Amino acid sequence: EKELPRLKDVFEDYFKIGAAVNKWTLHSAKDLVTTQFNSITAENEMKPEMLQPKEGEFNFEYSDQLVSFANEHHLGLRGHTLVWHNQCPDWMFKNESGQTVDRGRLLKRMDQHIETVVSRYADQIYSWDVVNEVIADEEDRFLRKSQWLELAGEEFIERAFHTAHKADPNATLFYNDYNESDPIKRDKIYKLVKSLLEKKVPIHGVGMQAHWNIHTPSIEHIQQAIELYASLGLEVQITEMDLSVFSWDDKRTDLMKPTKEMLDLQEKRYEQIFNLFREYKDVISSVTFWGAADDYTWLSNFPVKGRKNWPFLFDEHFNPKQSFWSVVQF
Ligand code: XIL
Repeated sequence: EKELPRLKDVFEDYFKIGAAVNKWTLHSAKDLVTTQFNSITAENEMKPEMLQPKEGEFNFEYSDQLVSFANEHHLGLRGHTLVWHNQCPDWMFKNESGQTVDRGRLLKRMDQHIETVVSRYADQIYSWDVVNEVIADEEDRFLRKSQWLELAGEEFIERAFHTAHKADPNATLFYNDYNESDPIKRDKIYKLVKSLLEKKVPIHGVGMQAHWNIHTPSIEHIQQAIELYASLGLEVQITEMDLSVFSWDDKRTDLMKPTKEMLDLQEKRYEQIFNLFREYKDVISSVTFWGAADDYTWLSNFPVKGRKNWPFLFDEHFNPKQSFWSVVQF
């Protein structure tokens, strides 16, 4: 039998090819991950609530395992994430009496978290998502309402980058967000990152999460977003890609397997999107999927709980889908 092409070889002259893994898929999808990919991201294991469940008590058990796994198999590692409104432990925002902390204390805790985590893995992680999802989705708001913003003020954003940079001057530091190709949100992301650059904040890239589906966003909007972020002179990384077979408003829950129409559309979209990525190889330094194969995806619980989805290039049995072939044949 002829050997399957490997994504990491096919795209060797273009960009790194990554998969998000967690403490289960690290084992179940081990062979697929180590043969097809050359980068991994922790799906949850490096988020603040996992790493520092109690103030000053760090738990590096799983993140250390990921780091050794990456080293052992010569995989690059993306760090995800340092400052986010989700999966951040509650204690971060509270004092001993259960009231909200003041600005100074919160920023100090933020610095301590970043310092501890980033320096522990210095030179082992090529890029960090330093700040995740702080732009608002509402048209009339710029920054997302969050405890970070309310308690610390918007300065926490630039400070996070400075602290991360000091802890590992060699890692490239990213601002990461979703709906990143929507023209209105895209312009806000651009505005934020531009203002950081003007203040000489050490930021090196924009992470496009790329939680897309088989209908939207348009290739044109994706291209415009890449162009705009690249116009800042920064790297772009595709950080959490999946192509859901359901459009956002499709709330059906009765499908046991994807229809032929869905798979055909997905194949076509993957082909177009990777054609675009290859055109921008001087800008895009890595493309990471938010999983490895259709046996496991966070989309099975989002946005509809308990609904299966089939967003990747490999099926439930780790076999290549027609989408795989459309991506590797060019
Ligand atoms: C998701 C994980 O995949 C889930 O397992 C978890 O329950 C919630 O977070 N944007 C991000 C990622 O930056 O961290 C999210 O990951 C998906 C959306």
